[in-house]
Amino acid sequence: MPESRCLQGIWSSPWIFIFAASGSAVGLGNIWKFPYLIGENGGGAFLVIYCACLLLVGLPILMAEVALGRTVRSNPIDTINDLSERRVISSFWVVVPWIAGLAGFLILTFYSVIAGWSIAYFERAVSGKLVGITQVQATGMFNHLLASPGEMLLWHSIFMALVVLTVGQSVTRGLAALVRILLPVLIVVMVLLAGYSLKTGDAADAIHFLFRWSWQDVSFDVVLAAVGHALFSLSIGMGAMFAYGAYMSKRMSIARACSAVVTVDLVVSLLACLVIFPLAFAFHINLDSGPSLAFVSLPIIFGNLPAGQLVGGFFFLLLVIAALTSSISMLELFVAWLHEKFYIARFKAALLLGGAAWFIGIAVLLSFNHWDVKVLFDLNLFELLDKLTSLIMLPVGAILLSVLVAWFIPKTMLQNEMITRQTSHFRLWYNTLKYISIPALVVITLAGWIGV
Ligand code: PHE
Repeated sequence: MPESRCLQGIWSSPWIFIFAASGSAVGLGNIWKFPYLIGENGGGAFLVIYCACLLLVGLPILMAEVALGRTVRSNPIDTINDLSERRVISSFWVVVPWIAGLAGFLILTFYSVIAGWSIAYFERAVSGKLVGITQVQATGMFNHLLASPGEMLLWHSIFMALVVLTVGQSVTRGLAALVRILLPVLIVVMVLLAGYSLKTGDAADAIHFLFRWSWQDVSFDVVLAAVGHALFSLSIGMGAMFAYGAYMSKRMSIARACSAVVTVDLVVSLLACLVIFPLAFAFHINLDSGPSLAFVSLPIIFGNLPAGQLVGGFFFLLLVIAALTSSISMLELFVAWLHEKFYIARFKAALLLGGAAWFIGIAVLLSFNHWDVKVLFDLNLFELLDKLTSLIMLPVGAILLSVLVAWFIPKTMLQNEMITRQTSHFRLWYNTLKYISIPALVVITLAGWIGV
């Protein structure tokens, strides 16, 4: 294990972990997926359940994943192998990082396609195609993109090439510096856009929808969707945060760092809703229109905004970069492992995995047009991969990783980590993880699967 410490180095400042982890967390999940999930699941009730999931399940499990990574300072696969060889844990656990890594890889296959849409809209925004766009035109433009596999392939390929190039470099370089600038800028731009949208759109209906509570909207499906998205949005359950934890400075309190990441993630998701919903209400855009919601509402905003060409282009550029910093973490687990274990150059490893994800991505993008067939459970390939990863693989990965931390890793090993500054806080975290987060996640996941 110590040699990997030398191989990768530690984040040069404790803050860099927060930026890198936020870079992984903040992405299409916040701006593209969260608004349509809220739209599909009835608004306020979903939001409240989602916040509860973030606090009671997401945060404790995020801390567990980061703590494990920092304790062992290695990649998840070698760590678990090593712990099982030393008989600290049984050899069963060896499968866990593989499930986790596979989840990240599968997410990348469709994430890259959606990130490709963002590049497409960047192009449309800067070339002035959104100027003065109406709701009908915006819907038509999006449908046209969906019906053009050739164009989608181009953008998907460009995005994947960017991912491979970035992951090919060492993670500690470049990435964190990029996020440090990107995140504050993204938040400022979103606050301004939210202000504009609230002023010109239907603010009252949007706020009412976002914060109304109705018991009718609560079901296990909704709770499962909320918890699945909390894991997706925080990038947990697939080893990315484990890998980032391995680079984290020992001086930093894990509780503080992770709370900051959760807060930033939630703020960006809420801002995305405040940008999209007022306009969606004003233009009668169907809130449960699914993946198209953001890509129909946002162009209308930019099309009618003074200097919308510039602001829209800039916004989509930020979205692409946010998607990039998330995608990097999806490949990080396997790339770091291939590099550290087999001395395969990072670039080669990234090319191999990115190439495979790109190839599957072609089938995903075809599932929006020529190949929109139900492959399993009445879902097409995109829907299947989305649900399989968010509702099955991430929860299973998160449950197994946190069970490992809570029940199998010696408590003293964790206590020596500076997980929290105070011992009483350590106990609070440890007990919440053991007796609330894990049981809740198990029950919600199982109940959601069997459709209670
Ligand atoms: N959290 C990212 C987002 O919200 C997606 C992601 C999922 C990244 C899983 C890494 C791992 O866009």
